[in-house]
Amino acid sequence: MRIISLLAVRSCKILHSLQQNAFLSPSSRIAAVSFGSTATVNKNSGYYVTTPIFYVNASPHLGHLYSAVIADCLHRYKQLQGFNSKFATGTDEHGLKVQQAAEAAGKQPLTFCTEVSERFERLFRSCNISHTDYIRTTELRHRQAVEHFWSVLWNKRLIYKGNYEGWYSMQDESFLTPSQVGDAVDSSGNEIKVSLESGHKVEWMKEENYMFRLSAFRSQLLDWLRGNPKAIQPECFQQAVLQWLQGELPDLSVSRQRSRLQWGIPVPGDASQTIYVWLDALVNYLSVAGYPNDHERWWPVARHIIGKDILKFHAVYWPAFLLGAGLPLPQAIHVHSHWTVRGKKMSKSLGNVIDPLEHSRTFTTDGLRYFLLRQGVPESDCDYTEEKVLKLLNAELADSLGGLLNRCTAAALNPAQVYPSFCAQSFPRGQGGRAVAEDYCMLEAVKDLPSVVEKHYESLHFYKALEAIAACVRQTNRFVQRHAPWRLDRTDGKDQQWLDTIIHVSLECMRVYGTLLQPVVPDISDKLLARLGVQRNERSIETLDFLPRYWQRDSPFEGRALGADSGVLFSRLESPTVKKKTKNSNLK
Ligand code: MSP
Repeated sequence: MRIISLLAVRSCKILHSLQQNAFLSPSSRIAAVSFGSTATVNKNSGYYVTTPIFYVNASPHLGHLYSAVIADCLHRYKQLQGFNSKFATGTDEHGLKVQQAAEAAGKQPLTFCTEVSERFERLFRSCNISHTDYIRTTELRHRQAVEHFWSVLWNKRLIYKGNYEGWYSMQDESFLTPSQVGDAVDSSGNEIKVSLESGHKVEWMKEENYMFRLSAFRSQLLDWLRGNPKAIQPECFQQAVLQWLQGELPDLSVSRQRSRLQWGIPVPGDASQTIYVWLDALVNYLSVAGYPNDHERWWPVARHIIGKDILKFHAVYWPAFLLGAGLPLPQAIHVHSHWTVRGKKMSKSLGNVIDPLEHSRTFTTDGLRYFLLRQGVPESDCDYTEEKVLKLLNAELADSLGGLLNRCTAAALNPAQVYPSFCAQSFPRGQGGRAVAEDYCMLEAVKDLPSVVEKHYESLHFYKALEAIAACVRQTNRFVQRHAPWRLDRTDGKDQQWLDTIIHVSLECMRVYGTLLQPVVPDISDKLLARLGVQRNERSIETLDFLPRYWQRDSPFEGRALGADSGVLFSRLESPTVKKKTKNSNLK
């Protein structure tokens, strides 16, 4: 303590990092203290991103794909930065609602789970989700991890046998206090009790089962959040959790009687009870990391992407379980909000559930990914309509970015099909060339773009990153428009040099956009960069050196042949096509 306060006098930054590290494993704590600061990013230590694992009681919908696309984008971005990144997703297959869904389908639970899980896997494959592991909670490796985790908590006397009496929502697989429950009327006119948060029906439950000493962790959870202002992002969600922790935090029931719930992992040593699905599901993050034998490498660098509806499970129960088991807490929990459809919550009964596979066929995989990340705001719900998707994609991908590439690579302006030369006299660093004030502003903006984009990618504000890129693309289009290279006289040496310079600068701008867009729209970026002749080993953000010739450095691209023309970058979408496809899909 004395050492900490001395350090604090010298540097509050060090104190902050020590506070953060109070929750690291002993070995990583020693390492962090001896290095003095956690600010230096160690890429060798890796990066581990997870999505929630998806319930298999129903088919995948747009919200599920959204969680996966956010995680995929973060994973790809980290890889581009040179991190060894691990990315896990998968399916949550136990519990009463899955058991009932299998019964209703007349299938054995495992057969049913396999079918739905494969549907998620197919969707992810088709949407370019580049996970490195796909976990199913019915796998043996997971069962062993859960059993071990349970035994650790049991041996530490953090689980005890007790009587639970209270409200339970099967849809949310969640226990609720009386203040979280309200009155409602169901579709048949019966008075029912519902969860105030989700609106799902709740039932009174009274059984003997195993309880976890959640109440014992309240102050440690508060310390964790107060010492780690970025533990839960965006900040509004961290505040929400801090608020919850001010309220009552009763012990948590972590098992159900097997007679009521058979589809789950039995409690080790007591086959009459089944482990609570959320405890089972949360441990998936450890299973993928190699728990219980081999998790030291990946577990300390874990980050969870989750929707706001499952915040309590991840930001209260999960850290409490981990603290109980003596494991480090996740580096961060990144929360996103929800998609509504024409202002309404997606629901089977309203018939407005968006099938992501269908829509990725209509708008292309990259089109849908771009829309979700360009429009999705983590702090607030967003609305999905096909008209909006169409308008945005046509404006930004087809017209603005695609149009720019088309102009600068078209044979009419670039007959030699090369990355032309930059002429420093035409575009000098001082005055006297043909460039005007707006052109210099554009160079500044594009030069700064990688750091702006990285800052937003880092905080998962993808929409801000994409807005910044789109603004620069518009500037480059204006640059070309302003100087109208097609009006220049190619027989005049000076005009030809200026024309080449305009194209060189525009291609350099596009090289920056293509590189930065890789995590969001991998196919489009690949097509763009390939057309510019940028090799795969020249596509990292770190080596992205914008317009070196302007700063009097050599450019490896100048004079290089462009890549083959593989057609338009993004085809304009026509409204009737969208309408027709939607109509057909509605008929199914
Ligand atoms: N199985 C649990 C998670 C266990 S993780 C240890 C679960 N599954 S889920 O299938 O219901 O939801 C998975 C993810 O989809 C969550 O992040 C959830 O927020 C997200 N979405 C579900 N509906 C959504 C929208 N309408 N919009 C955006 N995402 C939403 O919860």
